[in-house]
Amino acid sequence: MSTHRKLTEKKIVLASHNAGKVRENAALLAEYGVEIISAKDLGLPVPDETETTFLGNATLKAVAAAKASGMVALADDSGFSVAALDGAPGVYTADWAEQPDGSRDYKTAMTKVEKLARHAPDRAAWFTCALVLAWPDGHTEGFEGKAMGEWIWPPRGERGFGYDPMFVPTGGAQTFSEMDPEEKHKISHRANAFAMLAEACLKD
Ligand code: IMP
Repeated sequence: MSTHRKLTEKKIVLASHNAGKVRENAALLAEYGVEIISAKDLGLPVPDETETTFLGNATLKAVAAAKASGMVALADDSGFSVAALDGAPGVYTADWAEQPDGSRDYKTAMTKVEKLARHAPDRAAWFTCALVLAWPDGHTEGFEGKAMGEWIWPPRGERGFGYDPMFVPTGGAQTFSEMDPEEKHKISHRANAFAMLAEACLKD
């Protein structure tokens, strides 16, 4: 018997201010008849990501949104890891793209990864996505999905975002940025994490 708590609410908060993530997660949840409202629409504050793990940061965001809204909240945290860099940039993936003016530039971030890892023979890399559901009573359910592969240089493709142009999933020939987005979404770290969450908390 499952020891996971089931989601019975039909409307939850998505603890993200990122429109892309809100759209992607809304589509996944819609299949289960769950509607979402974004943290931005509710005017909820954005907590600092002070934890050192993906699950830690996703939990922190979900718990803060659940407490502030009184509703069940879903949060995610994701990033890119390189084996030769001991898993960096990892939870600091977005920080590596940060520019002095506060904007994010992924070409610069990818160049930094390549510069640090270029002499290492091990090309293994992976994306991680942690998804956490938090209830207003403090209960949480967390899941972590991965997409394993290798990093390549130079970057290729125009269809993805972030570090997609330098990542080729295991068994594939195209980067995440060259692939049809539909194909990426079938095998991505986010899809894997969501499948675990759905199995544990959404299915009867
Ligand atoms: P978050 O918003 O704190 O989860 O930061 C995620 C970071 O990881 C951002 O810098 C994203 O660009 C990067 N990232 C997460 N998922 C992906 C992906 O599927 N492709 C490329 N980059 C990703």
